[in-house]
Amino acid sequence: MDKLRIQGPCRLEGTTVVAGAKNAALPALAACLLTEATVTLTRVPAVRDLWTMRKLLEHLGVNCSSSSGALELRHITPSEIDDAPYDLVKTMRASVLVLGPLVARLGHARVSLPGGCAIGVRPIDQHLAGLEALGADVTLEHGYVTARTPPSASGAGRLRGARFRFSFPTVGGTENVLMAATLARGTTVLENCACEPEIRDLGLLLTKMGARISGAGTATIEIEGVDSLSGAEHSILPDRIEAGTYLIGAAMTAGRVTATDTVAADLAPLLEQLAECGCAVDCSASTITVERSGGLQPRNIVTAPHPGFPTDLQAQYLALMTQAAGTSAVCETVFENRFQHVPELRRMGAEIEVAGNLARVTGPTQLTGARVMATDLRASACLVLAALAAHGESIIDRIYHLDRGYESMELKLQQLGAASCVERIESFQDERPKQ
Ligand code: EPZ
Repeated sequence: MDKLRIQGPCRLEGTTVVAGAKNAALPALAACLLTEATVTLTRVPAVRDLWTMRKLLEHLGVNCSSSSGALELRHITPSEIDDAPYDLVKTMRASVLVLGPLVARLGHARVSLPGGCAIGVRPIDQHLAGLEALGADVTLEHGYVTARTPPSASGAGRLRGARFRFSFPTVGGTENVLMAATLARGTTVLENCACEPEIRDLGLLLTKMGARISGAGTATIEIEGVDSLSGAEHSILPDRIEAGTYLIGAAMTAGRVTATDTVAADLAPLLEQLAECGCAVDCSASTITVERSGGLQPRNIVTAPHPGFPTDLQAQYLALMTQAAGTSAVCETVFENRFQHVPELRRMGAEIEVAGNLARVTGPTQLTGARVMATDLRASACLVLAALAAHGESIIDRIYHLDRGYESMELKLQQLGAASCVERIESFQDERPKQ
C-alpha cells in the first residue's frame, strides 16, 4: 500500500488549481442513466471514487470514453438490466446513486446495499422512502435493494409525482430522489432537501438534459416530470472541500495559499471561521487566498448540513486547532463516528479529548512527526496537514483513502512549496486511478 513520507515543518506557499468536485461528479455520472443520449462531462476529477463509479456504470452497460479532458457517457437501453454488485458498491457508497435513475428510466433496479463505513452506519432509508413516495415498490433481500415501478398495461410503468419530505437534509437521498422525479409522471415537491452546492450543480445538469426543476440547492425542490431526457454537456463545479483543505493547510503551516477556479461563496462557513481565527482571507470572483502570519485564535465549530460548517472539513479544521493558542470545541453532528483521526493526531503530540460527538482541542502544540494510519478520506487529509506542521518525519499509511478524493495530493503540495518535504512511497499492490 502506498504511503506518504512528509518531513516537517514545511510552509505552504503558492497557487493551486482546484479540481472538479468528487461529490458533484458522482451524481453527474449517475445521471447519464436517465437518457439514451450522450452526456459529456468536463472537469471530472481523476480520483479513485470516480474510477469506481465509471467501472460500475460500464458494468451496467454504459459506454464510457474519455478524450481531451472530457468524459462521454452513453447508456443504450440494455435488453436486460444488470445488478450493481456488492464488490463495487462496498468500496463506494455513492454507487447507490444509480438506483433512482435506473428505476425511473427502466422501471427496475437492483443495487447491493452499501455497507457502513469508517465514519458511520450510513443507512439509505431516506433514499428508499423517497422512491416509495414516487410509487416505486422497494424490497430488501440477500443484501440487495430492488426497486420496481408499478406494472402498467404496456409493461413497466412509470413513477408518479408526489410530495415528499425528508426527515433530515440528506445529500445522497436528495440527489437520488431528485433524479428519479425528473422522469416521473406529474409534479413532485421535495421538502427538507439538502442544500449543498453539489445538488445545485446536479440540478443544472439535469435542466440541461431537459428536466423541469426549480429550487435545486434549496430546501424545497419542485420537479415537473417529463417523458424523456436528452444528452447534455456540463462542467463539474469546483471542489470546495479540496480547496478548503489546502486553504486550511496555509493556516496550519503559517503560509499563504491561493486556490483558483473556485467559488468563494460555497466555502463561506470555512472562510468566516479562518478569518475569526486570525487568518487573512481575500476573495475574488474565482480565487481565494488565505494567509497566516501571526498566532491563531481558538474558535469552536459545529458541523451541519450546508450552509453550516461542512463535516468534510471537520478533521482538517480540528488539526488546525492544535496550533491555536487556547482550547476549542469541535462538535460533529452529521456522522456518528467521525473522530478517527484523533488517536493518530494524539500520536503526533496533540492534546485532544473526545466525549461523544464533541472534541476539545488544546494548543498550541508543537506536533512531532510520527508513523500514522489513514482511516478515511478526510482523516487522511487531516494527517497530511498535521505532518506538514509537525517537526520531524511522518509516514502516513493507507493513503489509498486519500486517493479516493484528492487528485495527486503529493504533486499539488510539491507545487505549493513542499517539493523537498513530501514524497509518495509507492508499493506494487496499489492500482492507482487512471489519470
Ligand atoms: C455525502 O454523503 C457526501 N458524499 C459526504 O462526503 C458528505 O460527508 C455527506 O454528504 C454530508 O455532507 C458524497 O456526496 C458522495 P448524507 P451522503 O446522506 O449522501 C444519515 C466525503 O468525504 N443518513 O447527507 O452519504 C447518514 O448516516 C464524503 O467526500 C440516514 O440516516 O450523506 C449521515 O449520518 C464523506 N439515512 C447523515 O444522514 C439516509 O437515508 C448525512 O448523510 C441517508 C443518510
